[in-house]
Parts: sequence; C-alpha cells; structure tokens
Amino acid sequence: MIDVQDIHKSFGDAHILKGISTKLEKGKTNLIIGQSGSGKTVFLKCLLGLFSPEEGNIVYDGKKYADLSDNEKRELRQEMGMVFQGSALFDSMTVEGNVMFPLEMFTKQSKTEMQDRVNAVLKRVNLIDAHHKFPSEISGGMQKRVAIARAIVMNPKYLFCDEPNSGLDPKTAILIDNLIKEITEEYNITTVINTHDMNSVMQIGEKIIFLKDGYKEWEGTKNEIFKTDNEAVTNFVYSSDLFKKVRQMYIEERN
Ligand SMILES: Nc1ncnc2c1ncn2[C@@H]1O[C@H](COP(=O)(O)OP(=O)(O)OP(=O)(O)O)[C@@H](O)[C@H]1O
Ligand SMILES: [Mg+2]
Repeated sequence: MIDVQDIHKSFGDAHILKGISTKLEKGKTNLIIGQSGSGKTVFLKCLLGLFSPEEGNIVYDGKKYADLSDNEKRELRQEMGMVFQGSALFDSMTVEGNVMFPLEMFTKQSKTEMQDRVNAVLKRVNLIDAHHKFPSEISGGMQKRVAIARAIVMNPKYLFCDEPNSGLDPKTAILIDNLIKEITEEYNITTVINTHDMNSVMQIGEKIIFLKDGYKEWEGTKNEIFKTDNEAVTNFVYSSDLFKKVRQMYIEERN
C-alpha cells in the first residue's frame, strides 16, 4: 500500500500538484484519470521518486520516503516496475535482451538463472515466439507485453504504468488491461495506472482517482463513477457519446 499524504509539486511558478492525498491499495489496480495536463504523469513520477514533492509525504508500506537513507531509497527503487508511455523499449536489443536488462543491471544472478526468469515472465505475458526479435519487428500490443515483462522481471512490489494501452486498438487495449490486472492480483502488487481511457475504467477500475488541475477532485470505484453527481467527473466520463447512452440506459433501468 502506498499512502500519499498531501503532496505538492511545482516547477518554478507553476503549481502542478496541489495537495494530493490518497491510499493506493495492494493487490488492486489503482487508476489515475483526468484530462491531459491534469498532473497524472507528474504524480506517477513523484511515486517513482523521480520528482520530489516540496510538501507532503509518500509512505510505501510503512516506509516514509523522506526518512530513507540513499541506500534504502535505492532498494525501494528496485521494488518498483515501470511501464512507460509508448513502451520505451531499447530498439537495439532483442525482446529477451530488453527483459533481461534489469536483472543484468541490478542482480548478480547467473546467466542460467536470468534466462529462466526471462523465459518465465515472457511466458506469463503470453509471448513465446518472440525472444530473438527486435522491437521494430513486433506489433504495438506485443511491445506492451515486453514492457510489462520487463517491469515485472524483478518481482516488484509496486508497478507503475503510464497510459499502458495508448495507441492500441480497443480489443488489444482490453487484453493489456486485463493482463496487468491479473498480474497485480497474482503477485499482490500495488499497481498504479495512468489512463484517460474510459474502457479501462470500466474494465479494471477497482480504485479510481480523478485529478483535475492538480487537485484530487474525486475518488471511488468503477461502480460509483457512474452514479456520482460530481459535475467534473460526469463531464469527463460522458464526454463520449457512447457513455452518455450507457448512462441514459442506466437511469432508465433505475426508474
Ligand atoms: N518537468 C517539467 N517541468 C515543467 N513543467 C512540467 C514538467 N512536467 C510536467 N509539467 C507540467 O505539469 C502539468 C501536468 O503535466 P502531466 O504530464 O502530469 O499531465 P498528464 O495529466 O500526464 O497529461 P497527459 O494525459 O497529456 O499525459 C503540465 O502543465 C505540464 O506542462
Ligand atoms: Mg501523462
């Protein structure tokens, strides 16, 4: 569980995160939603320790980040997996090389141990024939799977995904969402996903945090989001005609 306590983040005069508090739950997919520019990526980078908030605390399973020594911070970073917007694979490395990279970087495992682990995670994300291919030779959906495999290869306690299904067709996007949710439950990971995809919200929104202009405007579950009267949330959710229709059907059913 990650306990976020009233964090503020500015760049110069621009106050981007304006006091965000929330609890990101273990074994669940915690979704951060909100319009472009609302602060989702900045928030995720604070959780990753890439940005340090000027005010507030982030507490990882009881460990307050600000109180950790440099060594403890490094250890904590190794418990985090990250899927970046647009996969961010190394183009010059094979699929296998990409997934093995964190093991080579941060562990002293033997070549056989690393190979076994890479085979296991690639199998887990349903990639069995792509070990020796390069990122440019596989589809966008497969690239996301490689990015997920790389993010979980170190057995992370925390998994952060920035728009993991951007650029994918709706069907592939749902497969990727479900894969992340399954892995989260299977390994009891605290997973945080940035998205502006309402399909993801409906599919895997166990806990949803809605950011607006750097504030936490609302939080709840996927069942609650369709019932809320919060105007900012409903404007966001029903900006698509499809969801307006779904809401109409829901209201008619209720009456
Ligand atoms: N390194 C930085 N320096 C200065 N300003 C930044 C920096 N990173 C982000 N910002 C600003 O913070 C605000 C929030 O940006 P952020 O990238 O978090 O939005 P977002 O919600 O992730 O948007 P999107 O959905 O488009 O990815 C923007 O106004 C952006 O210009
Ligand atoms: Mg972003």
